[in-house]
Amino acid sequence: MSFVVPGPRRLVVTGAGSGIGRATAALAAARGWTVAGLDLAEVEGLVPCDITDEDSVREAFRQVDSLWDGQAPHALVHCAGVYRFKPATLTTAADWDAVVNLNARGSLLVAAAAAERMTASGGGSVVLLSSIAAARGDAGEPSAAYSASKGAVEALTRQLAVEWGPYEIRCNAVAPGVIDTPMTTVSHHPEAFEQVLRRIPAGRLGTAEEVARVCLFLASEESAYVSGTVIAVDGGQGAS
Ligand SMILES: NC(=O)c1ccc[n+]([C@@H]2O[C@H](COP(=O)([O-])OP(=O)(O)OC[C@H]3O[C@@H](n4cnc5c(N)ncnc54)[C@H](O)[C@@H]3O)[C@@H](O)[C@H]2O)c1
Repeated sequence: MSFVVPGPRRLVVTGAGSGIGRATAALAAARGWTVAGLDLAEVEGLVPCDITDEDSVREAFRQVDSLWDGQAPHALVHCAGVYRFKPATLTTAADWDAVVNLNARGSLLVAAAAAERMTASGGGSVVLLSSIAAARGDAGEPSAAYSASKGAVEALTRQLAVEWGPYEIRCNAVAPGVIDTPMTTVSHHPEAFEQVLRRIPAGRLGTAEEVARVCLFLASEESAYVSGTVIAVDGGQGAS
């Protein structure tokens, strides 16, 4: 009998300055992976990158190339994103563009930059961040632009899995429920928070590390035959 332990891998994490991205980068590093973290926020040790800007994404990946002497990433976990709570009737074209461009278009730009390198090096794994909002409406904290942007991320995930499959690049998404990160503000409002907790079978918010573990499963060879799918990390909320 032989035991195959997947060895260390080179991983690019976006949104590595906070929340799920930070937890993913930290967990991967603790497991011995080589990690390059990207973020808009200026954080020491991270490569600066604005995922809404094509040139900035190109330049950030060029910096990663030079950090790794031209070796391609094995995996990308793309966590950079934005959430805005705004009822549909109050959502302006500018609100829509800001959220959809960052979450949906940003996912394409970053995934394509990673895939370009993976194609040349024999494959890899791309992990995008969706949300429970892609599958369920939210009466309490409506955000039409956010929900639509995450629906787009899931459609993009399936398309990229099919388009890049021949290059041995897998593409999957993780759809978190309500996770305790700086993005989640509902916990600041006791009444709304009680309502949210009632909808979660687990009876609590998830942690960034619980999402990170699933992201790293998809980034690793443990999930070698998984592509084009979305894994919910929501304490059962999607089933309720
Ligand atoms: N927290 C939740 O409850 C939750 C639920 C569902 C989905 N998600 C998704 O998970 C992902 C991570 O969320 P989080 O909770 O860790 O959020 P977070 O706000 O803690 O972190 C987001 C990170 O993205 C970075 N970022 C924002 N705009 C950027 C840009 N233009 N270019 C580069 N980086 C940028 C921020 O600087 C920050 O470090 C997001 O895509 C989010 O939509 C989160």
